[in-house]
Amino acid sequence: MNFVSSEDLSKEDINKILNIADNLTENKSEVSLKEHATLTLFFEKPSTRTRVSFETAIIQLGGVPIYIDAASSQVKRGETISDTAKVLSSYCDFIAARMFKHSDILEMAENSSSPVINALSDLEHPTQALTDVYTIKQHFGNLRDVKIAFMGDIATNTANSLMITAAKLGAEVALIGPKEQSPNVTYFNKAREYSKVWHYYDSIEEGLDDADIVYTDTFVSMGEEADAERRRKLFAPYQLNSKALSYASQKALVMHCLPAHRGEEITADVIDGDRSIVWEQAKNKLLIAKAILLFLSEKE
Ligand code: CP
Ligand code: NVA
Repeated sequence: MNFVSSEDLSKEDINKILNIADNLTENKSEVSLKEHATLTLFFEKPSTRTRVSFETAIIQLGGVPIYIDAASSQVKRGETISDTAKVLSSYCDFIAARMFKHSDILEMAENSSSPVINALSDLEHPTQALTDVYTIKQHFGNLRDVKIAFMGDIATNTANSLMITAAKLGAEVALIGPKEQSPNVTYFNKAREYSKVWHYYDSIEEGLDDADIVYTDTFVSMGEEADAERRRKLFAPYQLNSKALSYASQKALVMHCLPAHRGEEITADVIDGDRSIVWEQAKNKLLIAKAILLFLSEKE
């Protein structure tokens, strides 16, 4: 089984992965993959958290990570993704791929004999979404009756995956951003099949009303640098600052997938304040990386 999209996991699959993560916290040392299981990380874009959490995860499960920067691979010289996937998967047990184009991850998965994990593409960040719902569950017990407000660039990979995964678990999702930036219609419509998912573009106050979680992501995602100036201006009114947070529930918690840009999508007082759970969110990436690897190995 591949995990290239948040749609690959049923609600039962998601809950299974969250349960594996819970069991790991209680039972650290007894769980492992087969000896010397290998995870190849094939990355076209920078990463701090996803790379190191997956590398640490496979080591702690008794396996070995192999990192390859796509720019130093033969793909740089024209080898196809499909040929690369066939060869890499003949050596290793898992591939985690971070690519610019989602279609490249799909091509990798179609040609790989080992499970392929999407470690971020232009359209999705499904491992992040699992970490996010796990973190929310730690605070609220479950996702039902939780209102998640995603503010800023509501069409990011992080937003797409979060709305699908959270909606599958029954959360209400409000997307709040400028009218010039629609949500990705495919993900938005899909998420609405699972739960209440709203798009607010005219009122931050209304969109954030009663929100339990206020989430934001960068205004300039990797690959969008040429459009940075326009994007920063467009999204500026949707900054997550203390005024915006005051519209949410009094107990609302603040999340961000990181990396954060203080003074752009979020202010320092909010991300470093006592409502922020971004550090535990980031820490949970390791636990979820392990749970994903164990889940996929059981599916083989
Ligand atoms: N949240 C996240 O994916 O961070 P990295 O880009 O550092 O992996
Ligand atoms: N939307 C961001 C997420 C980074 C983890 C990006 O793609 O750069």
